[in-house]
Amino acid sequence: MACNKFLTFYNGEKMPVLGIGTWQASDEEIETALEAALEAGYRHIDTALRYGNEGAIGKVLKRWLDAGKVKREELYIVTKLPLTLNRPHEVESTFKKSLGLLQLDYVDLYLIHTPFTVFANEDGSIKKDKDGLVMVDPTTDHVATWAEMEKLVEKGWTKSIGLSNFNIKQIQRVLNNCKIRPANLQIEHHVYLQQRDLIDFCKAENIAVTAFSPLGTRGYVNLSAKSGITREVPNLMEIPEVKEIAAAHGKTPAQVLLRWIIDTGLSTIPKSTNPARLRQNLDIFDFELTKEEVNRLLALDRNFRICDLAIFHGIERHPEFTFKNQYTN
Ligand SMILES: NC(=O)c1ccc[n+]([C@@H]2O[C@H](COP(=O)([O-])OP(=O)(O)OC[C@H]3O[C@@H](n4cnc5c(N)ncnc54)[C@H](OP(=O)(O)O)[C@@H]3O)[C@@H](O)[C@H]2O)c1
Repeated sequence: MACNKFLTFYNGEKMPVLGIGTWQASDEEIETALEAALEAGYRHIDTALRYGNEGAIGKVLKRWLDAGKVKREELYIVTKLPLTLNRPHEVESTFKKSLGLLQLDYVDLYLIHTPFTVFANEDGSIKKDKDGLVMVDPTTDHVATWAEMEKLVEKGWTKSIGLSNFNIKQIQRVLNNCKIRPANLQIEHHVYLQQRDLIDFCKAENIAVTAFSPLGTRGYVNLSAKSGITREVPNLMEIPEVKEIAAAHGKTPAQVLLRWIIDTGLSTIPKSTNPARLRQNLDIFDFELTKEEVNRLLALDRNFRICDLAIFHGIERHPEFTFKNQYTN
């Protein structure tokens, strides 16, 4: 049960439409989960320096590559330039840190994780002022950072480069000033936050879109509750329309949420560390949603951002902050 469906980028690179997300997975969890995921047929892995688990992922990849169980060209590895280290002079050294941890010679896609920058403590954690507010660095310069990202492609260290959490205005500015176009945009996207104008813009510009938090990121919901934020966040897998469609196909609500994203022309990276759920999330290519079902799911949009970064008090003061419900600014 592999994923034999791909998104082809403008530069000819092919990304499997279904990958494994790895945020909020400890080293131990991700090692076991990744073994199970690779066994199940996953070849696309989404990580980031900020997730703190690139080293554990690298260990598993090395085991698989050394044993000849998978060829490097069969893997699709994505990682990201963190918000604490996205100043132009930090790009190369930060990228090389990820590459070293992953034990690879190149990655397939390197993304600028966020369009804003914050200061970090010595240990890499996000710096806060005496009032507990995140210390933002407003000097973020997308064009200058992008020029450094382009050098990574020229050196053969990444096949493609892209953006994450950028809005239309920010992407347009990169497009107006680039030598190498962004191949991919990674954004929160699910039935309750569809960001249609952003996606239409990317489609028109030939930028492939990847949906993160496709299942409604219960992990972030729990994190937010733990940090004292109270808000009602619906569980997408409990939406009656989703459950009805799932029952009609003998599938689970999660499988319907994922298949819908792929049917609308995007790729997606659900996270699970549970082997049975990992297999379930990949087992979505043996059924098709009807046009009417796709439209019913499109009609659920509420512009409801779940992963809003509200746990990082003060971060919204950055001039390039985009995690607002009004995503296009
Ligand atoms: N670029 C960015 O800024 C950004 C931001 C957020 C996320 N991401 C990426 O996108 C990935 C996915 O997003 P996410 O982790 O926020 O959330 P998500 O994939 O929407 O949801 C993950 C949660 O759903 C559970 N789950 C997974 N499969 C399930 C199934 N079949 N049935 C029921 N529950 C299921 C997982 O629990 P179990 O593990 O227990 O199965 C986990 O709690 C991340 O891991 C990360 O790689 C990127």
